[in-house]
Amino acid sequence: MEKYGAFRDKGSGIAPFFPVPSQPAGVALPFHVFLFICRIPILLTATLSYFLVFCWLPIGSLGKKAALWIILGVPGIWWIDLQVDGVKKGSIGQYTRSRLPHPGSVIASSFTSPIDALYLAAIFDPLFTASYPGTRKVQRLTLWQAMFYALSSPPTQPPKNAKLVDLATLIKEHPDRCIAVFPECTTTNGRGILPFSPSLLSVPPKTKIFPVSLRYTPADITTPIPGAYWGFIWNLCSKPTHCIRVRIAEYMYNQSTASAAPKEPPRRNSYETNLLDDLHKTEMKPRTVVPVDQDGMPNDEEQKVLDKVGEALARLGRVKRVGLGVDEKAGFVQAWTKRR
Ligand SMILES: *[C@@H]1O[C@H](CO)[C@@H](O)[C@H](O)[C@H]1NC(C)=O
Repeated sequence: MEKYGAFRDKGSGIAPFFPVPSQPAGVALPFHVFLFICRIPILLTATLSYFLVFCWLPIGSLGKKAALWIILGVPGIWWIDLQVDGVKKGSIGQYTRSRLPHPGSVIASSFTSPIDALYLAAIFDPLFTASYPGTRKVQRLTLWQAMFYALSSPPTQPPKNAKLVDLATLIKEHPDRCIAVFPECTTTNGRGILPFSPSLLSVPPKTKIFPVSLRYTPADITTPIPGAYWGFIWNLCSKPTHCIRVRIAEYMYNQSTASAAPKEPPRRNSYETNLLDDLHKTEMKPRTVVPVDQDGMPNDEEQKVLDKVGEALARLGRVKRVGLGVDEKAGFVQAWTKRR
């Protein structure tokens, strides 16, 4: 393991790219093989019928979500431990709904497994995007692509033919959807949060950003190594059940000054309402635009925004932020595959 020392975070000693080993099955092995053999044909049928037929039918968001829950249910992903910041466990109501990602908002999700995209789709039905280290623009992905993206090589730069768009444009074009962003750009084993792509900086200042952390128990269905399809499918289908621990933080804005969301929606009287509307209008007037280097590195103010979201993801996942990024993962993958 010593030669992988370069792929450990200097400060914390965290190694975010190593695959998480499975518990040895022991005497349960025949049972696991049995589960695997039973589930594969069902999973294959459910997946193919969703992606070839269902997702093209006008069955509405609800029908699609139901179909996705079936896909999640087949390998035994039915223990969902959901907790929303500032909401007591088990109390779901009007008040809670404003604390969940909704159309017109952005989800900044941790990225460890193909299940991330599947689960987000089954709950929030978002548009998926791929982020890249050096650019604020993102690439739109379908759910299918987003799942495969979790098993693809670390994207040190956008593919040559990729159609890139900024998040502000995407939000304007799809007001009826929420947008899922994986700001770490590439998958980890869930033990650390990588430095962010600047993509979240193209979110307009009034759009809510919800940090969402997804963790799995057992953690061996995370896919830090690209192309590890068989290991993933085996770990997914041979275990009786899997639990997803979902944590959603209070929303934040792309503003370096304003801290977290107000604790309670302010009650307004009509005078205030008018005043606020006026304020809103003056703010909407076109102002002289300060030229920003759209694709450049974030400045100090902007880095604060990214740090704020990164901190939230680390806190939710009970892990630390690490200094290793996409380039280090690319190096790790090279060293790891050479060893084999
Ligand atoms: C997001 O916030 C940063 C820092 O405050 C700012 O520089 C950037 O222009 C903002 N992005 C948009 C699209 O407004």
